[in-house]
Amino acid sequence: MRAAGLLLGLLIGCAASSAIPEPDPAMSAKAGVPPEVLREDRAIYAARCGGCHRLYPPAAHRAPEWASIVERMKEYAPIDDEETRRILRYLDVAAMR
Ligand code: HEC
Repeated sequence: MRAAGLLLGLLIGCAASSAIPEPDPAMSAKAGVPPEVLREDRAIYAARCGGCHRLYPPAAHRAPEWASIVERMKEYAPIDDEETRRILRYLDVAAMR
């Protein structure tokens, strides 16, 4: 468990940049979920979407574009419905930063 936490921390650390914003209270309010849930969404985005190419900044696309991009990425990687929903939730609220 400790090792898994460390690994996750490293993953998130790699993704940490102002372009991949950390959830803040305003983002949490917009998403309607607690900050820790949004932090998990961000970690899922980093884990599922950063393996083949750099993590694209949430602000790079609008929500409908992200939805079709994530659908397209499913050709390359198995991303289930729950992960899709959580990735899109993070990208949507993080785009305003
Ligand atoms: C298994 C490898 C792989 C994974 C995992 C992956 N991608 Fe990609 N991604 C690609 C490849 C290959 C391309 C270039 C070809 C293309 O655009 O279809 C790409 C292109 C992109 C682009 C550029 C598209 C454009 O039109 O500019 C974006 C944005 C993107 N991916 C986002 C994501 C997101 C979000 C996720 C997670 C849901 C993700 N990728 C997961 C392989 C991957």
